[in-house]
Amino acid sequence: MKFRPLVIGNWKMNPATPEEAKKLFSVTKKLAATYKKVDIIVAPPFVYIPLMKVDNKNLFLGAQNAHAMDVGAHTGEVGPVMLQGLGVRYVILGHSERRKEGETSALVNAKIKTVIANKMTAVVCIGEAVHDKDGEYLTFLRTQISETFAGLSRRDIASIIIAYEPIWAIGSAAKGAMMPNDLYETTLYIKKVLSELFTRDMANSIPIVYGGSVDEYNAQSLIDGGNVRGFLVGRASLSRETFLPIVSAANNSK
Ligand code: PGA
Repeated sequence: MKFRPLVIGNWKMNPATPEEAKKLFSVTKKLAATYKKVDIIVAPPFVYIPLMKVDNKNLFLGAQNAHAMDVGAHTGEVGPVMLQGLGVRYVILGHSERRKEGETSALVNAKIKTVIANKMTAVVCIGEAVHDKDGEYLTFLRTQISETFAGLSRRDIASIIIAYEPIWAIGSAAKGAMMPNDLYETTLYIKKVLSELFTRDMANSIPIVYGGSVDEYNAQSLIDGGNVRGFLVGRASLSRETFLPIVSAANNSK
């Protein structure tokens, strides 16, 4: 099955003001109107979500996290019911910046189930901290995948996207993005582990996107040669100049 390509803009804790957020959103809207063969998901900070009005067919609202419970006494948290009510369709879960703050795979697993129960798609991040030559990272990925996706049904699987984000490749201190052939091999391994956990069919039906220092130079080769459906983009989603070439690469993907 040929999936539509997908680019997710993870704004993280940016930009600093609602005015800038509105401006950035309207820039992204224009990109969606121009590049119609790609689906774009914008994941702003929670507080900006109500400012964004989506009326393009290929533009969707995302959130960067959600609590594992629907509603209740959880000070400072945002529940999936609220996000759903604001038009959010995708929720990023288990991002490495959240796992670093103590989020475990068991907690991510609980969040996935709540997000799906609220009829949204979970964009679930996985990825190793070190890509060692001895292949220890494969064992790490196997454990992380087994714990993160434990107990999900065939129906749940239809509402999941995996974002493979090797931690060493993320952010301004990154050692650079992954090479396409390396990405290709790692996604094959991820699918192999998923097919052991579920069935081969189910594993092949889960779209995988790549994240970590995607930019105007590597986007085309990563999507054409990396066996991924698209990207989860951090820094480069914060301006037209840097986001456009990535959206365009996904739009032109073979
Ligand atoms: P980056 O971040 O594109 O800035 O490397 C990706 C991410 O953390 O989702």
